[in-house]
Amino acid sequence: MKKNLLLATLLLTTTAWAQKFEGLALTPPMGWNTWNTFAANIDERLVKETAQTMIDNGMRDAGYVYIVVDDCWEAKDRAADGTIVADPLKFPSGMKALGDFLHSKGFKFGIHNCAGTRTCADFPGGRGHEYQDALRYAAWGVDYLKYDWCNHGTADARETYKTMRDALHTAGRPIVFSLCEWGQNKPWEWAKDVGHLWRTTGDITNCYDCRKKWSMGWKVILDSQVELFEFAGPGHWNDPDMLEVGNNGLTLAESRAHFSLWCMLAAPLMAGNDVRNMSKEIRDILTDRDVIAIDQDPLGKQAQRWETHPDHEVWVKQLSHDEWAVCILNPGPVPAKITYAWKELEYYFKGNYQVRDVWQKKNLGTTSSNFSGEIAPHDVALFRLSRLTDG
Ligand code: GLA
Repeated sequence: MKKNLLLATLLLTTTAWAQKFEGLALTPPMGWNTWNTFAANIDERLVKETAQTMIDNGMRDAGYVYIVVDDCWEAKDRAADGTIVADPLKFPSGMKALGDFLHSKGFKFGIHNCAGTRTCADFPGGRGHEYQDALRYAAWGVDYLKYDWCNHGTADARETYKTMRDALHTAGRPIVFSLCEWGQNKPWEWAKDVGHLWRTTGDITNCYDCRKKWSMGWKVILDSQVELFEFAGPGHWNDPDMLEVGNNGLTLAESRAHFSLWCMLAAPLMAGNDVRNMSKEIRDILTDRDVIAIDQDPLGKQAQRWETHPDHEVWVKQLSHDEWAVCILNPGPVPAKITYAWKELEYYFKGNYQVRDVWQKKNLGTTSSNFSGEIAPHDVALFRLSRLTDG
């Protein structure tokens, strides 16, 4: 009897205390994910080679520390006792060894699974195994869990994700919890206390503004983020999906604009290309410290779209210390000659600011004069404005 009482008290206390891990993802998580380029073609060699490349090419030191193994890492079925197991052919050394390797190289270890019975690629999902899986992930040294939403049946999204949150918390290892529920149940309204980031749409694909059955280009996603700015902040981010920067299907300008705007959105920056085989231009985009600094600004504000015209859109992001990032996108098919008066932005800031062209690495004078320049189709001009001291 006493034992039962003790157990009940323990259970109550654990449940009451279960919460998401605080103090994680205070700036948008950055890293690399296997899915966009490799889908099911993954193994431990790919992950290790990618990690080594990211050390050699400066990505790790630029902040890309979460290496996330997406769908298709599991064996087709769980073990007889329900334990989730890795595919022994793809990951012969096991996930604990992979985690140890990544940690020894200065990375964090991310993994994918699903809140439903099976993952989208038909591997074992987490439903009914949440506490068992959370213990396993903790034992493997996992630091980041992306949790998908395929095959969820009639499950309630909020309750289902809370169950996994509680399981992770109970297992005790601080893990960034990335909800991948595609925005179907407006997670921005309820997920702040459940996870650290939540997908806002279906999948991104490698084009500017195409729409496919389940996936879409970055411009389509961008347009659907406009109303969501107020929900993002340190420890809880809107996730407009991983980067297609450097993938076939995007011009260099489109890759640059995609990256710039994801930084404006304070989006998680998960590279999704084959970093072992990328051009210098793409590497320079992904590792540009000044652009990344806009994404990683500690204030954690997501940009607002201030204006939309056929040949230019103006996005504004507040930064710390009375600085601002402004991004002008040319969404049109021909070059746009733009003259922009900074006083158009007086709703956000008044007074005199120094204007720096972030990609060109040039100071352009102050906000007392206009910006004039040409922006190529689907390209951007990106500025950082810093307050000039009065007098
Ligand atoms: C869903 C997710 C993708 C990816 C795949 C894997 O489509 O939205 O990001 O994880 O599943 O099957």
